[in-house]
Amino acid sequence: MGDHDMESISMQDATTHDGRKVPPGGTLGVFGGGQLGRMFGIAARRLGYRFAVFSDDKDGPASHVADHAVCAAYDDEEAIASFVRGVDAVTFEFENVPAIAGEIASKYVPVRPAGSLLHTVQNRQREKDGLTGLGLPVAEYWPVRNEGECRAAAAALPGGGVLKTASFGYDGKGQKRIASGMELEGAWESLGKAPCVLEALVPFVEEISVVAARGQDGAIAVYEPFSNHHENHILDVTMCPRVLGPETQGEVDRIARRALEGFDVVGVLCIELFLLADGSILVNEIAPRPHNSGHLTVDSHVTCQFQNQVRAVAGLPLGSTERIGRPAAMANLLGDLWADGEPNWAAALAMPGVWLHLYGKAEARKGRKMGHITAVGDTPEEAASRARAARAALVDRS
Ligand SMILES: Nc1ncnc2c1ncn2[C@@H]1O[C@H](COP(=O)(O)OP(=O)(O)O)[C@@H](O)[C@H]1O
Ligand SMILES: [Mg+2]
Repeated sequence: MGDHDMESISMQDATTHDGRKVPPGGTLGVFGGGQLGRMFGIAARRLGYRFAVFSDDKDGPASHVADHAVCAAYDDEEAIASFVRGVDAVTFEFENVPAIAGEIASKYVPVRPAGSLLHTVQNRQREKDGLTGLGLPVAEYWPVRNEGECRAAAAALPGGGVLKTASFGYDGKGQKRIASGMELEGAWESLGKAPCVLEALVPFVEEISVVAARGQDGAIAVYEPFSNHHENHILDVTMCPRVLGPETQGEVDRIARRALEGFDVVGVLCIELFLLADGSILVNEIAPRPHNSGHLTVDSHVTCQFQNQVRAVAGLPLGSTERIGRPAAMANLLGDLWADGEPNWAAALAMPGVWLHLYGKAEARKGRKMGHITAVGDTPEEAASRARAARAALVDRS
């Protein structure tokens, strides 16, 4: 598979992988076995690559489409070294891959984006410090790691806030809303007094995201912004385009470019944004990989977010981020839809302008992302109502 052997690569080479390209026919590896790895793998195969997965889950969605799948712990140094010797470049599909995996991998092959970015985003405090350091706007925030910081943050918070654990939060897990600083201590206790970040509550009018890619040559490609609607803190529906005023759009582009360059991303980055009533923007959080809100690009854009990740990781030129045609929307399919038995696939597929994507997960649990539906329409709203209608048809037993 790989075209290099271990002996010829020394530690020193870890910094000289820069510029190495992987032409089609080579093998791209991914750490993480979920749906994002699966869609990366499908995109890689479309471009003629072989695809290898390293995951601690034997039967994950990515392994189903892989040429080669390794199941081992993310800190199993020997297994990681052996895996990366069989690939030409490697990326990751979720943030909580232990940094050690990236460090070991980088001794052998290019890791794109670099493992140091994982280290930054694995901790909300570091992530926010990084964003602020780049001059990017975030909500006011305070560290809450000990009693003293807890008192200081409680006193400084101007109104309501959101307390978030610094590590391992996703889909709203590890978060507590508070109405004022007086509730901070109790909220922190309920999070087990884990290291946290307190954020001022943002009175946003809408949540949007921007997905962008940066190639090995420094070229940047930015998708149009997506409008996101959450249910129970889990992304429910994404719509595009979200046409913003020129100033706001300019700010979104500036933020995307600054973040890609400032964090030296080679790969795909999603930035979750809060849109405020006056048209200003705050960064909520970043994910250095394709994002759930970008799934609709697979059906509606010239180059989807996964193919751009493949191109960036392989050192190929990025593809156009333009939408091909009509407005589009995506609705997530959570395990809840399986509660009364197998969903009615035929009913959804019979609807026009609708695509069904399933991740091949064996067990449908409540809140688990099992797949998504994309749809097009004359307006983003019409596309969204089609995607929602197709989803509703899955469980219509009448
Ligand atoms: N400071 C904030 N003010 C208002 N709402 C927030 C704030 N932070 C998070 N939220 C809400 O909670 C959701 C989840 O928070 P986020 O930081 O994105 O964590 P996760 O890692 O779970 O996605 C956001 O999409 C938003 O709806
Ligand atoms: Mg989020």
